Amino acid sequence: MKYPDLSFEPFFTWANRPRILYKAGVREELGFEMEKLGGTKAVLYTDKGLIQAGVAQMVIEAINASSLELVGVYDKIVQDARLELINEGAAFYRKCGADCMVVVGGGSVMDTAKAINIMIGGGHEDFSPLAEQVGLFDGARPLPPHIAFPTTAGTGAEVTYAMVVLNDIAKAKVAVGHPFCTPDIAMLDPELTVKLPPKITAFTAMDAMTHSIEAITTVSANPISDGLGLHAIRIITNYLPKAMKNPGDVEARGYLLIASTMAGMSFINAFTGGVHATAHALGALYGIPHGLANSIMLPHVMSFNLEEKPERFVLIADAMGVRVDGMTPDRAARAAVQSVKDMQKSVGLTQTLKDFDVPGNREALQPLIDLAMGDSQLPYNPRDLEEDDVYNLYLKAR
Ligand SMILES: [Fe+2]
Repeated sequence: MKYPDLSFEPFFTWANRPRILYKAGVREELGFEMEKLGGTKAVLYTDKGLIQAGVAQMVIEAINASSLELVGVYDKIVQDARLELINEGAAFYRKCGADCMVVVGGGSVMDTAKAINIMIGGGHEDFSPLAEQVGLFDGARPLPPHIAFPTTAGTGAEVTYAMVVLNDIAKAKVAVGHPFCTPDIAMLDPELTVKLPPKITAFTAMDAMTHSIEAITTVSANPISDGLGLHAIRIITNYLPKAMKNPGDVEARGYLLIASTMAGMSFINAFTGGVHATAHALGALYGIPHGLANSIMLPHVMSFNLEEKPERFVLIADAMGVRVDGMTPDRAARAAVQSVKDMQKSVGLTQTLKDFDVPGNREALQPLIDLAMGDSQLPYNPRDLEEDDVYNLYLKAR
């Protein structure tokens, strides 16, 4: 299709961190790159699943083959970055006498490690007061050397200067930004993702898809985020089915990792919207994994937003391979929603909120609605979302 005229806000900013290295087996460069950053004694942050699957071991072997010293492995990180584990992980780093961190994991591991690095760099003992602030930008300084290996192709947390922290007591997810919390280097090594189970491959890819679709349609969308987001959609559309069919397809896995990183760069600058706002609340109150919650909410929020920016949904349909030429803008925009539903079905993501016992009556849903209405991402949604709208979206997703 011919590229249309698109409007965007007269002012935008673009943050560009970290350095990215891509190669199947790029972990072999870890010791060399960490030395250049000044790191000599590393703690490796990961989770028990990645230890059991042998994925963390692949990076440990790369460390052992280099001059970098591994002084500790912290593997207690669980789903979502949690305050008590952030504090414990920082105490572990100090106890080990480390001077740098290597991170092997998905979004929860990477976000936990970012928060730990902020504590180490700033000399903090407790992350709780920091988590009460939306941004830690005033006087922020570079943090200790930090290299991350994403093991899911979804969150893009390796390139985002914020972390989503779950406050288990308050039952809320909050986003905290810090200009230097991204790793110094993101190493994209697709060999670390081939063992990812199909279901997690599917819903983490839908997280990346959501990042792209929301970034392209938010009020903060700009030509740079459009470019990254649209190409990430093309890649996911082509390579997610290939990775699902053949989990060992390193090329498909590599493309998905790259798409996830591009989608991360896109949304951390253009932000997200109603999908992430409603999904964060579902994660906090019902424990639904982030990518899955996004996947469930995505087509419903897209349908709600279509009328506000149809031309952008036409671009999304085009990027997903729909022949939009000759279609009315309205029909082409709706085809984008259908394409997302078709993709979800083809990868087995057919769950609804009913499967997680999310209730249908207004009174029982109100805490969820309140959380979504207060979410930091809601104001970026292209169409205003009132409480009744959020309620209706949750009902549609049941
Ligand atoms: Fe996300």
